Amino acid sequence: MTSYKQKHIDISKITSALLSTTITVNGWVRSLRIQATVAFIELHDGSTSKTIQLITEDLSIIEKLKVLCIGSSLSILGEVVKHPTKEDQVEIKIKEILYLGKIHDPLTYILNAKKTSLETLRDHMDVRVKTRTFTAVFRIRAALSKATHDFWHNLGFHHLNPNIITTGDCEGGGEVFTLTTLLNNDKGDIPTLDKTDIVDYSKDFFQKQAFLTVSSQLQLELLCAGLGKVWTSNKSFRSEKSKTNRHLAEFEHIEWEVAWATLDDLMDQSEMYTQFCFNYILTNHMDDLEELNKFTSKGIIEKLQSFVSKPYKRITYNDVLLIITEKQNDIKSIYKLVELPKWGDDLGSECEKYIAEVVFKQPVFVYNYPKDLKSFYMKHNEDGKTVQGCDLLVPGLGELIGSSVREEDYDKIMAVVAQRKMDVSSLKWYLEMRRNGSTPTAGAGLGFDRLVRICTGIENIRDAVPFPVAYQECAY
Ligand code: 4AD
Ligand code: MG
Repeated sequence: MTSYKQKHIDISKITSALLSTTITVNGWVRSLRIQATVAFIELHDGSTSKTIQLITEDLSIIEKLKVLCIGSSLSILGEVVKHPTKEDQVEIKIKEILYLGKIHDPLTYILNAKKTSLETLRDHMDVRVKTRTFTAVFRIRAALSKATHDFWHNLGFHHLNPNIITTGDCEGGGEVFTLTTLLNNDKGDIPTLDKTDIVDYSKDFFQKQAFLTVSSQLQLELLCAGLGKVWTSNKSFRSEKSKTNRHLAEFEHIEWEVAWATLDDLMDQSEMYTQFCFNYILTNHMDDLEELNKFTSKGIIEKLQSFVSKPYKRITYNDVLLIITEKQNDIKSIYKLVELPKWGDDLGSECEKYIAEVVFKQPVFVYNYPKDLKSFYMKHNEDGKTVQGCDLLVPGLGELIGSSVREEDYDKIMAVVAQRKMDVSSLKWYLEMRRNGSTPTAGAGLGFDRLVRICTGIENIRDAVPFPVAYQECAY
């Protein structure tokens, strides 16, 4: 007996070489036309952005197909025949239906609605993954993972994923999620408090407070001082209360660390890596880009082509402030701002956007930031005011990469630690590495979900991620 369990052929592999053979095809209905004596179905299966047309004039099969809706799953046995009008294409003449996934309530099933917003689809994840837009976005996302692995592997970097459960807050921003089992009891007990009403973490699972990591950087620095070149694709977690189209609470963080590298090396690597990714998608996923270019992301192809057409701009924080001062009226009117950043301030998302989108119209590296804006581990410049840190700003997004040369001198690190009154009890292992035979290292972190946004032109980071988790949003 024939069944959908027998070997099937991916739609991407169905060509005229298979003419006159009988094959099994499995997939989901993208569109359908069922008439009295003939039925046409466009089927997609995830292997490509293309669909295959199924046809039948068999009345008993047509009767069975009448229950189908857009989005129904379907497995058929059929013969590969020539397409009646398109010379280079084939279609499948259905011989037998092997499986048909019933839609229980076709009248309210959301894929049958004329147009559904990306936002509405987030409440219908099972439907979302069957749409043209999301199959393209997720295929591109998976391809970017492959490109990332290829890129770092080809440069001789070792791929290691350090611990996600940690006792440290690498960035020092206090945006950590505490991980505790003190609340995991079925008796409804409150966590043990000490005399000052502070939670007693010595009674917790790790006998101390533990968090989800905000960055794997410090662990990578240590691994790098022995392996030379390392990278990770770990998740990072941040409890930033930001409800924007570029912040998630859980994000994929591509971080790399290199021994003996300079800030120029980091900018070169960041440019090479991102351009490699853009070229990879332009070369291997043009079908998906064309699909996105039609409706969701008009202009995405030209945008990616422009990003690989020339080197990125490189400019200091000081020079960005000069531009902001010169263009202050323009910036204030575009973004309805009352005040603009002064020296020492964070540039803010509006000014970052203005620099990348309006002034340079291309990705821009901004480097040498004021030291107080940045984390304790960054190397100070000789001016005593700025650090060797650099952000990559991209039109339509803002910050994609944060990077820096690390301070390798133990005494200088300890001076900053003292000045910032940092509690370094959880950083003993790191400081030990800096105290004994310290290695100069430099590294960077790229928000992978933001990279997917750029490569698909999708506007909201929630639509670049299979299951988004963000401030006040944890639904799956
Ligand atoms: O600039 P960040 O905070 O830098 C670091 O974490 C460094 N320790 C990286 C390193 O040197 N190894 O974060 C790096 C990048 C940002 O540029 C941004 O693209 C992304 O991570 N990112 C986020 N992406 C989504 N949601 C969030 N809440 C993010 N926070 C940072
Ligand atoms: Mg940053």
